[in-house]
Amino acid sequence: MQKTHWAKVLLLTLLLPLAARADEGMWLPLFVKRLNHADMQKKGLKLTADEIYDVNTASLKDAVVQLGGFCTGEFVSSQGLLLTNHHCGYDAIQSHSTPQNNILQNGFYAASKAEEKKNPGLFVDILVRMEEVTGKVLEGITPTTPEAERMATIQKRQREMADNAKENGKYVAYVRDMFGGNEYYLFIYQRFGDVRLVGAPPEAVGKFGGDTDNWMWPRHTGDFSMFRVYADKNNQPTAGPEEGNIPYVPKKHLPVALQGVNEGDFAMVFGFPGRTQRFLPAAGLQLALDQSNPARIKLRDTRLKLWKEDMDQDPALRLKYASKYANIANYWKYFIGQNEGMKRLKTVDAKKAEENALLQWIAQDPARAQQYGDALNVINQSYAGIRQYNLSSQYVNEAAFGTEIVTLAARMMPLATALKATPQDKAAVDKAVADLKEPVAEYFKDYNAATDKKVFAALMNLYMQDVPKDQLPDVFQTVQKQYGGSMQKYADYVFSNSFLTSEAKVNAFLAAPTLAKLEADPGYKTYQSVYSNYVQNIVPKLQGLQAGLGRANRLYVAALREKNSTKIYSPDANSTIRLSYGTVRPYKGRDAVAYDYKTTAQGILEKEDATNPEFVVPQKELELLKMKDYGRFADKQGNLPVAFITDNDITGGNSGSPVINGRGELIGIAFDGNWEAMTGDLAYDPELKRCINVDIRYVLWCIEKMGGAKHLVDEMTLVNNGPNPGVGPATAAGADMSDVEKMKVKTDKGGKTKIKRKKDAAML
Ligand code: ARG
Repeated sequence: MQKTHWAKVLLLTLLLPLAARADEGMWLPLFVKRLNHADMQKKGLKLTADEIYDVNTASLKDAVVQLGGFCTGEFVSSQGLLLTNHHCGYDAIQSHSTPQNNILQNGFYAASKAEEKKNPGLFVDILVRMEEVTGKVLEGITPTTPEAERMATIQKRQREMADNAKENGKYVAYVRDMFGGNEYYLFIYQRFGDVRLVGAPPEAVGKFGGDTDNWMWPRHTGDFSMFRVYADKNNQPTAGPEEGNIPYVPKKHLPVALQGVNEGDFAMVFGFPGRTQRFLPAAGLQLALDQSNPARIKLRDTRLKLWKEDMDQDPALRLKYASKYANIANYWKYFIGQNEGMKRLKTVDAKKAEENALLQWIAQDPARAQQYGDALNVINQSYAGIRQYNLSSQYVNEAAFGTEIVTLAARMMPLATALKATPQDKAAVDKAVADLKEPVAEYFKDYNAATDKKVFAALMNLYMQDVPKDQLPDVFQTVQKQYGGSMQKYADYVFSNSFLTSEAKVNAFLAAPTLAKLEADPGYKTYQSVYSNYVQNIVPKLQGLQAGLGRANRLYVAALREKNSTKIYSPDANSTIRLSYGTVRPYKGRDAVAYDYKTTAQGILEKEDATNPEFVVPQKELELLKMKDYGRFADKQGNLPVAFITDNDITGGNSGSPVINGRGELIGIAFDGNWEAMTGDLAYDPELKRCINVDIRYVLWCIEKMGGAKHLVDEMTLVNNGPNPGVGPATAAGADMSDVEKMKVKTDKGGKTKIKRKKDAAML
């Protein structure tokens, strides 16, 4: 490209409003109008920006909730009916299941509101509004403000602003930082503490394919469940389930589309993505690759195998450990996939190349060198330091706290503190005891001491072996000296003598608690030794390193954004509300392997295997599918659609998110990512990354045809407005280019595109 062209491009770029690319990005709804709306329209969006996010009138954001702090859900009726994933409702479903009334296995649909099941502790947050507060948070802070002072000031202001916004408990509010502390945002929510289970398909549908299919496409899982949000008579939130509560009337609920999806349809996903680390430097990636992930995989592998051995022996135990198992297994496979992906896609090398280019750019200008010059050095030094202590952190989390007895012991901490106080405050002790009642009952409902003992012996043994000797807690010296180094013998001792292994004993202790008794307990002692060693010897080392890293990261991110000033970055996910948009789109998984964008019930029959618990198909479903009884939910070819993929950028926490077409109608529920793009949380690859969604027509079929709960479908607002707006099948010219990029293409005479955007090569 010649110089004159570049000048033109530059000029045009300056005149253009900033426009973002579709594929990568979990965008803050607050900025949709300014950053994304024009691009979204090009992809097929028919809604105005205000219909997506507006504080004063009902908009899409009012139909989307954060569920329990870890998932997303969406309103689909005017009576507070909520759709989310089966794996998001799993814990609630399991907690209402017994071997006699096994709703996890059989599925469940409440025939009337009276049958809906209360879930104390479960809540949803509905966004009232969000606000950028960077200016207020950073006021008066300069590049020379000492880091500790900066942190203290910022934290104080974040707290004050949030407290203010809470309006004496009316709202839940917090200030979150974005872009490594370069920007700050205030989020204000209403929290509803009465969320009841309304329905779920049998586990063999909701988790069809089990851990084998998890994180994989093609998929045939009916990963949905239903809840209902309840409010008081004035439609206001209550802290927990209360007598007299009635179904909440949301400001907005989503119409449900019957027409289905096609390749190239516009799709947006609204939700609460948990965490991405797209700005993680190469040294951080390297640490995950060769230290953190292998440790997590090894420890989880050990725990899962031991749990499974026992679960396979006893159906009641299987039920007790089902939810814990699914949780641990989910990220066990995630870490495996992330590491495989990092090796295959050479993620560390790519990041290193980006850092080298950044270093060169910084060196070109003395002012830049002054401002950003030491950032990457400090980052690399900090990670070298963190590497020395990182295994300790991993093993405290995944080994010591991977045992249940240690987590229960940790729960006794507030009681220990109350018992320690002199003079003793009886009311504080009573409160600490009262606060333990429910968690203890819940804990023992799903606990088996013999299983936990095996896990304890195995995980603590790995802790003793793998962590640098000089970082180990004292408890391992006891194991060496008194038990000849045998963790098995130590486990025998702990589990025969600790009162933490039995509900009756814990309750007896809570009836007359003394500090002496707690501190003499071998389970509690183990926890104390691990915890105090961590707090006293490991955390201070890591904290020092993290503080330097915090500053350097902030500068690194700022430098990167300044260098690539025409690229609009979206902030890393941090459990705040986001919107991503893209299209229904197939992909090529690897050489010679191309994946279709949708699956059908035919695939369920192909995968069906009565001898493999992960691929059993419930009898009722088998019958219906064999008869091809798809009712009004069949697609145009006469098949029953099950799942489809889009190139929306999502991550964990988005689970249960609505997939919405260009007219604002619900076409699916997002539930997973694909194996080829497991590095997606660290680096985004537009050719590989896909969002896996259950087709809403399969959800409706499961409820109405298989579940016989037509009354719940009738409660929804079903629409059939014809084909979804969109750009059509993939290679529609420029479908994935921002205005800035198109401009560059246009200015290249001769019509040949010379833009080097390696990742998008296939699109150009
Ligand atoms: N990978 C999915 C997610 O993180 C969870 C799928 C749950 N299914 C399972 N087989 N564990 O959202």
